[in-house]
Amino acid sequence: MISKEPAMKRAAAPQRGEGWGERAPAPKPEPVHAPLSAVGREVNAAHRATSNDAVISVRDLVVDFGGAPVLDHVTLDVFRGEILGFVGGSGAGKSVLMRTIIGLLPKRQGVIEVFGTDLAGVSDRERRTVERRWGVLFQQGALFSSLTVRQNVQFPMREHLDLSPRLIDEIALAKLEMVGLDASVSDKFPAELSGGMVKRVALARALALDPEIVFLDEPTSGLDPIGAAEFDELIRTLQRTLGLSVFMITHDLDSLHAVCDRIAVLVSGRVIAAGTIETMLASEHPWLKSYFHGKRGRQIADKSEHQIANQVSHRIHR
Ligand SMILES: Nc1ncnc2c1ncn2[C@@H]1O[C@H](COP(=O)(O)OP(=O)(O)O)[C@@H](O)[C@H]1O
Ligand SMILES: [Mg+2]
Repeated sequence: MISKEPAMKRAAAPQRGEGWGERAPAPKPEPVHAPLSAVGREVNAAHRATSNDAVISVRDLVVDFGGAPVLDHVTLDVFRGEILGFVGGSGAGKSVLMRTIIGLLPKRQGVIEVFGTDLAGVSDRERRTVERRWGVLFQQGALFSSLTVRQNVQFPMREHLDLSPRLIDEIALAKLEMVGLDASVSDKFPAELSGGMVKRVALARALALDPEIVFLDEPTSGLDPIGAAEFDELIRTLQRTLGLSVFMITHDLDSLHAVCDRIAVLVSGRVIAAGTIETMLASEHPWLKSYFHGKRGRQIADKSEHQIANQVSHRIHR
C-alpha cells in the first residue's frame, strides 16, 4: 500500500492553471534513473539517449487537420523510468501529440514507437496488447459521469481483463487506496467529488491495468496550490514505487521543478528543446527565457539557481 504523502507547503497563488503557485522548497525525491546533481542528470540523460532505452520514440511526426500542421516534424523520446514534462503555449499541440501517440488521432507522416513497436504496422490484437501497458489521464479528468468511482476505475479492467467481479472489486479498491482515496468514495458519482478527488480517481483508473507508461494531460490544472502540490507528490511517489515512465503535459512550473526529470518544449509545432530544468534555465532561446525567467518563472529560477549554487559549493568543498 502506498500512503498518501503529506502535503507540501505551498503559498496561495491566485491562478494556478495560468500563473504559478509558490512552493516552499521541498527535498526533491531522487529520480529512478538519475542522481540529484544537475551534472549527474545530464550525464545520465546522455547515457540513456545512447543506450536506446526509450519507451516512447517519436520521429519526424507531422499531424494536421487539413490546414497548416499542428505538429511539424516533431522528434521526441521518453526514457524508461523518467518523468518527462511537456510544455508549450496554449493550443501549441501538446494534447494532439499525446492523443496521436496513443492512437486517437491520425498522423500524416512520421514514426511512433512505443516499447520499440511501431504502432502503425500492428494488428488490432497487438495494439491492444500495447495499450494495456499504458494508462491515460485526460485533460478534463474525463470520468464517466453516469458511473460511480468504483465503476470508473473498473472500466479498463472490464475491457481488457477476464477477472471475476469480486477480484475486479478488490483491485479497484486497492487502486483507490494507492491514490490516497478511502473506500467510502467508491460508490459516489464524479459530480459528488472535489476537483482533486476527480483527478485522483482518474489517476486510479489510469493505473488500473498496472501500466508501465502513464500519460498525464495537465494533471494539476484547476487544482488549488496545495492540492496541486499533493498531486505532484503523489505522482512522484507512484512513479518511483511502481517504476513508471511518465509523459506529463503541464503548464505548471512548480510541477516541472518538483517532479520532472526532463522537460521538452513545443513551440510552433516543433520540439525546440529537451533537457533538465537547469538546461532550460541556462538557455538563451527567447521563448525559453520568457517562459522560465518571465514573471511566472522568476521564482523557480531563483530557487534553482540557489540549488545549483549549493551543489557547486558542495562539490568544491568535498
Ligand atoms: N480533433 C481536432 N480537430 C481539429 N483541430 C484540432 C483537433 N484537436 C486539436 N485541434 C487543434 O490543434 C491545435 C492544438 O490543440 P491542442 O493539442 O489541444 O493544444 P494544447 O497544446 O493546448 O494541448 C489547436 O489549434 C486545436 O484547435
Ligand atoms: Mg491540451
